[in-house]
Amino acid sequence: MNKNLFELRECALKEIENARKPSEIAQLKSKYLGKKSKISEVMSSLKNLPIEERRETGKLCNAIKKQIAEALKTKSEQILSESSFDIDITMPINKERGSLSPITIVGNEVCDILQKMGFAIVSGPEIEDEYHNFDALNIPASHPARDMQDTYWLGSNKLLRTHTSPCQVRAMERYGAPLRIAAPGRCFRNEDIDACHENTFFQLEGMCIDKNISIPNLIYVMRTILSEIFAQDVQVRLRPGYFPFVEPGFELDIKCLICGGEGCPTCKGSGWLELCPCGMVHPNVLRISNIDPDEYSGFAFGVGLTRLAMMKYHINDIRVFNTCNLEELDQFGIV
Ligand code: PHE
Repeated sequence: MNKNLFELRECALKEIENARKPSEIAQLKSKYLGKKSKISEVMSSLKNLPIEERRETGKLCNAIKKQIAEALKTKSEQILSESSFDIDITMPINKERGSLSPITIVGNEVCDILQKMGFAIVSGPEIEDEYHNFDALNIPASHPARDMQDTYWLGSNKLLRTHTSPCQVRAMERYGAPLRIAAPGRCFRNEDIDACHENTFFQLEGMCIDKNISIPNLIYVMRTILSEIFAQDVQVRLRPGYFPFVEPGFELDIKCLICGGEGCPTCKGSGWLELCPCGMVHPNVLRISNIDPDEYSGFAFGVGLTRLAMMKYHINDIRVFNTCNLEELDQFGIV
């Protein structure tokens, strides 16, 4: 009996020495120390042995168990310290969990549509400087329009960008004219939060500059985006809107898809939701980025991706996007 136990110990220590993965350690632990292991079997049959032999074999079993447990522990620590990540490539992947956020999905869709029309996808920093967020967009320090955008100032002329429009400026600086870009991104405003306002939200900036660009080009692009995104007839209206970096400027509103236009908290009772401010690029904006407004003209728009996702997926409260409530997120397939 004792000879068998010694052989068992040799076998176990050799196998432990050869183990390479945490999963192998787990298997060996169950094989040599688990309920169905040889040692457990021996220990449960001790009661049938004469008293002297019982005591001796019992002691030996405990000593061997302890040795095996120590060897397993040392080896397991060694394996973990040798790999910087504890990766077990044999672990199954749970494919059911996780999905893209509705904002990412609509953002990707708008980018695809624009790419087919020759727009390049660009990005810009979330921490911007005053020049790109305001000055180069025809909003000098004294301009009352600065108050329209409740800015989170960070000091040293840095701020959290209040819109994706600084990406227009960076693209003009970098590529000049002609130009077609789309820039999706996160923006920040120190706003009161309600069902349709958040202090953190997503926009997608579009800009097209070329010779002879005019308002019909803008309307064509807007209509193409909306009809492809919603794949249904949606009612839109264009009304004058004021933004210092476009002239003329418009607000493109969409009939609220949550209430069908009857009025609800999402559309603040008006039946319409501002979805895409837009307009023809102001000559000052072209000039400041070294593009000659006598030669080139352009349009720009800033579609609210968060609102677009709300309309497309019938999400009636913007606050849900930043919530940590998994049950609420789960209903939109966000988690
Ligand atoms: N950047 C503007 C805003 O967020 C929207 C806008 C973009 C308006 C492009 C006109 C053209 O308020």
